[in-house]
Amino acid sequence: LSISTALSATAEFDVQGHRGCRGLMPENTIAAFTHALKLGVDTIELDTVVTKDGVVVINHEAYLNPQRTRKDGQFIREKILIKDLTYEVLREFDIGRLSEPEDWPEQTQLDGQRVPSLEEVLSLVDEYNDSHGESVRVNIEIKHFPDRPSDTIDLKEHVHKVLEILLEKGFEELATIQSFNWEALKISKELEPSVQTAALVSKTNLDKSIWTAGLRLRNFGFDIGRMLASIGCSVISPSYSLMTDGWVESAHQSGLKIIPWTVNDLQEMERLIDLGVDGIITDYPDRLIELVSNR
Ligand code: G3P
Ligand code: CA
Repeated sequence: LSISTALSATAEFDVQGHRGCRGLMPENTIAAFTHALKLGVDTIELDTVVTKDGVVVINHEAYLNPQRTRKDGQFIREKILIKDLTYEVLREFDIGRLSEPEDWPEQTQLDGQRVPSLEEVLSLVDEYNDSHGESVRVNIEIKHFPDRPSDTIDLKEHVHKVLEILLEKGFEELATIQSFNWEALKISKELEPSVQTAALVSKTNLDKSIWTAGLRLRNFGFDIGRMLASIGCSVISPSYSLMTDGWVESAHQSGLKIIPWTVNDLQEMERLIDLGVDGIITDYPDRLIELVSNR
């Protein structure tokens, strides 16, 4: 299957590469984003936190994870909060290998991978779009944990910094702000209404997400689509394990797209496509692109 065939076949369906393509390359690295673009994803999914000196960087946790972070060739022993490191110091760590690579057997192990900045990734996507005549999007998660607020910088400042970079790089039409913390989505819409937002939903976080946004599900007839439309959301992204046709109906009736995460199993991908989802977030965009292209 050629890349151009894959691209045209998935035009209406949003193939999102989770953390770039976590199943194939070290997550949230330039190597993962470059490979995801090469495979032909429609959207790159990534996670953001902010350093001590205010640089928005790409990392899944608020801290450097000992399971995939090395310094001078040795895995670090303890979690190190990113908000306590300057960008320069953060770049001394290598995030290209796993301490237990057997957990991700198809993931290429690399040396010399640094935590990228958001700006760096947007430049990469921009160059790709320019040179290929494409409009690959970026789905940017705001990592902020209401029960551990001191792990990260102030939420409003975080969202503000991300939006500032999006505007500077001309990405407002090609970006989505996503979060489990729905307050981040409200803040984003207040600061920059033109940037679309996506509400993440997990089995265990739904109550907390609703609470962070100051909402009450019962005020919306227990219709989650209606509730999210009220805060200007464009997308609902539930954990795939929650997905039933009720979710699709609720989202579509309120004019929202529904794009579940993180789906790696082919049968599950098929089930969700049959339910009518608008896209899927996957660690293996190669599998999803092939599936969608052959349907
Ligand atoms: O975008 C959905 C997904 O990335 C949310 O979960 O923990 O992988 O960031 P997580
Ligand atoms: Ca994420």
